[in-house]
Amino acid sequence: MSPHARWAPLFIVLVTACDQEPPTGTTFLLGKVLASMPAELGGPLRLLTPDEQQRFARGSVVFQTVFTPETGLGPLFNSTACAGCHEEPVVGGTGSADPEEAGEDVEVHATAYRGGVCDELGDKGGPVFQKQVTPALQAALGIASILGFGLLDAVPDTEILAHADPDDRDGDGISGRPNRTADGRIGRFGRKAQVPTLREFVAQAFVMEMGITNPALPTEQTVGGAPLPAGVDPTADPELTQEQLDAAVTFSQLLAPPEPVGNPVIRMGGQQVFSRIGCDGCHVPRLRTGDNPVRVLSHKYVDAYTDLLLHDMGPDLADICLGQATPAEFRTEPLMGLRFKATFLHDGRASSIDEAIRLHAGEAAGARDRFLKLSDRQRATLLGFLGGL
Ligand code: HEC
Ligand code: HEC
Repeated sequence: MSPHARWAPLFIVLVTACDQEPPTGTTFLLGKVLASMPAELGGPLRLLTPDEQQRFARGSVVFQTVFTPETGLGPLFNSTACAGCHEEPVVGGTGSADPEEAGEDVEVHATAYRGGVCDELGDKGGPVFQKQVTPALQAALGIASILGFGLLDAVPDTEILAHADPDDRDGDGISGRPNRTADGRIGRFGRKAQVPTLREFVAQAFVMEMGITNPALPTEQTVGGAPLPAGVDPTADPELTQEQLDAAVTFSQLLAPPEPVGNPVIRMGGQQVFSRIGCDGCHVPRLRTGDNPVRVLSHKYVDAYTDLLLHDMGPDLADICLGQATPAEFRTEPLMGLRFKATFLHDGRASSIDEAIRLHAGEAAGARDRFLKLSDRQRATLLGFLGGL
């Protein structure tokens, strides 16, 4: 049993009390204390309303549903369920790094970048191509944790723009800029920050990963833009109801961020080294959410270690363009949940945190060089801190 489980009865009593009377000084204070206690790993944020709890539970079911051709799967798909890729260590966590279980949580992306313009090859089935892959390649790829991403969804654009410095006016060699959609909205989800909201990312994941059309995206992806042969996709579109889509979005929004673990002295010391050598120039330790209709997402801090901006990481890491992101630009990957990953960087090429840092280049070259100059002891402290996130 988890050490927090014993708090559950108190939690229920308090929620009931809040429902029955206006918050008095004591219940308010107790509420604050409870809200600051760690949530279960893979569970929802604390202090949801009963309605939110219900929608979270409903969304968890949709997230774990294994789809079949009869219920809309395909015709092109990478996996049969969201949880097929996002299953460990808990539902909603990171993808499996076990090569034996593999073959599904891998993606092939392709786009063309000509004369500074990104062609996402939409007519050729891009930017995500459905493809089964070998266990060896599978094992080499890392998957982003999605715990706590609802809080990132709730960060206002102004907060993101406050960290942008496209012309590097402060001269620190770091020039973050936001990605933007064709209609000018600021992106934040996906490795290239190409998707503005969690709702859009989830709707796209249904179509692109599972071939499940939904009210937000009612048409199937096709191969090379060719019409689908008759009879391969018997289910009527949209294959997901609005209610199912909403539930999956709510589930993704309300997943609590993982609490860091480890020796508090190392954590504090490591965080100091992290800031001193300039890792926080991109991996901004804490962002603040804005006004939000969901109370547990409104005006909260999220310790995600990202600025949600694009940075040029140098030619060796470069892959595809997406939206305004050039091949060498990537969103600062959130370090929240780092301890659940087995491989690192967008294509999983690094098999340790240390290696991931050594592969930083471009705008991150200065911080990387300062990392390389650390004493063994300082480096161990920093890696201890990162390994507990
Ligand atoms: C075939 C494997 C696969 C399936 C199926 C899949 N995902 Fe993902 N998901 C990934 C990978 C790989 C990433 C990290 C790369 C990226 O961000 O594009 C990811 C990232 C995410 C993220 C984080 C995005 C970010 O900004 O880093 C969310 C949220 C997410 N997935 C939700 C879902 C939901 C909801 C479903 C079901 C509709 C789903 N995924 C199905 C592979 C998958
Ligand atoms: C110029 C901005 C920038 C700076 C400075 C920077 N990073 Fe990063 N970091 C990124 C980007 C962008 C990525 C994602 C790159 C990719 O996916 O290929 C990343 C990825 C990572 C990852 C891998 C995360 C994952 O889930 O795969 C780790 C670990 C990391 N950074 C740690 C650090 C540390 C420690 C420092 C300081 C020495 C640092 N970074 C400095 C931008 C930066």
